[in-house]
Amino acid sequence: MAEPKKLFIKTYGCQMNVYDSERMAEALGNDGYVKSETAEDADMVLLNTCHIRERASEKLYSDLGRLRKLKLAKPEMKIGVAGCVAQAEGDEILRRTPFVDLVVGPQTYHRLPQMLRSNTQQIDTEFPTEDKFDLLPARKVQRGPSAFLTVQEGCDKFCAFCVVPYTRGTEVSRPVARILSEARGLVERGVRDITLLGQNVNAYHGAHDSGDFSLSKLLRLLAGIDGLERLRYTTSHPNDMDDDLIAAHGDLPKLMPYLHLPVQSGSNRILKAMNRKHTAESYLRLIERIRDARPDILLSSDFIVGFPGETEQDFDDTMSLIRSVNYGAAYSFKYSARPGTPAAEKPELDAETTDRRLYALQALITEQQRAIQEGMVGRVVGVLYDKHGRNPGQMVGKSDHLHAVHVDDAHGVVGELVQVRITGSKTNSLSGVRLV
Ligand code: SAH
Ligand code: SF4
Ligand code: F3S
Repeated sequence: MAEPKKLFIKTYGCQMNVYDSERMAEALGNDGYVKSETAEDADMVLLNTCHIRERASEKLYSDLGRLRKLKLAKPEMKIGVAGCVAQAEGDEILRRTPFVDLVVGPQTYHRLPQMLRSNTQQIDTEFPTEDKFDLLPARKVQRGPSAFLTVQEGCDKFCAFCVVPYTRGTEVSRPVARILSEARGLVERGVRDITLLGQNVNAYHGAHDSGDFSLSKLLRLLAGIDGLERLRYTTSHPNDMDDDLIAAHGDLPKLMPYLHLPVQSGSNRILKAMNRKHTAESYLRLIERIRDARPDILLSSDFIVGFPGETEQDFDDTMSLIRSVNYGAAYSFKYSARPGTPAAEKPELDAETTDRRLYALQALITEQQRAIQEGMVGRVVGVLYDKHGRNPGQMVGKSDHLHAVHVDDAHGVVGELVQVRITGSKTNSLSGVRLV
């Protein structure tokens, strides 16, 4: 029998890219590729890229520079570029780095095995009419107890700073039946915790025999799967949080008390310039309603600091919003002008101001995060073990609120969902003892 070929995939960007990388590895697995831990001993290297900020897409070219040297020593090695930079700059990639064998966008990676069989350079960045999920092999590989499941792709919101509507295309929802069978398949292979993914996941409206399903209806259906213990979804837009989705947080025990709800800014002037179509006040009212439904919910958000035209007052408004919400976690980014987006036409702020604001915002978030973590001490929470800890007799898992928890438990098993009393809080994790 022929030696299996080795595949190394490097994934940049969001969870949807993580999911896509798994699916690509499975598709190539059917063609005899097995995963490799390093690029050095791989027969095929695939870079699954992100275009969201300039720094993210520049990483691709520095990685390709290193791969060029590997390929000089091993000319039969194939190099592929997938993901959002492939979609946005496919032709430029082939021009700047002609040793790349193939470029494939996020909507056409089901064609990867076929592209690989060719001996000429290949590019495919179409938005095809067929559904790639129908054509990809069924999912087989699963290690840990947690999995991502993409239910929706693309975005029609066109926030003024964002490339996603251009790289991922318009909003598309997968049909309910396909999601249900993928979820059941994951559970059969030991998954107990599923995070539904979409660039705009709460805008989900997938086809079902009884008419279109909203995200809340989909969650209610998935909650009925025996053996599936936890559900989450990400990323949501504030304007798509409908009444039933808010209610689901109150009446679906499997829906975990954690919600990532990006606001980007607390200034109405900036939100308008960003084309976000919500205000700071409407966001705060929404948070209040979500907390009424699920009082212990932990909230997280994304922030962009230094958007064109952001004044000191605008930034203060963002800081006030953060104080009003009290976040358990947040991602914050310096604004990065992206070619082709409306905001890129506007003059940028000086780097010093943006740096200072980012630092202040992150300090405030860290303070809130720490206080919320410390508030967990003494409480009993569910923890799903996902691996053994570094110390003997220790397990590591995620709490209901998505905190990493180290638990002293000599008999713990990966995939077990246990009750834990939290006894301590460190910078990025909690510690606790198992009950019963
Ligand atoms: N669909 C999601 C997130 C998309 S991208 C949403 O609407 O929230 C993830 C995050 O990257 C965004 O929430 C935003 O905070 C950040 N981001 C997107 N474009 C950016 C840019 N040009 N500069 C800096 N941060 C950006
Ligand atoms: Fe980008 Fe999210 Fe806005 Fe869509 S809603 S354009 S993905 S930031
Ligand atoms: Fe990046 Fe594309 Fe995700 S631009 S954040 S990988 S949708």
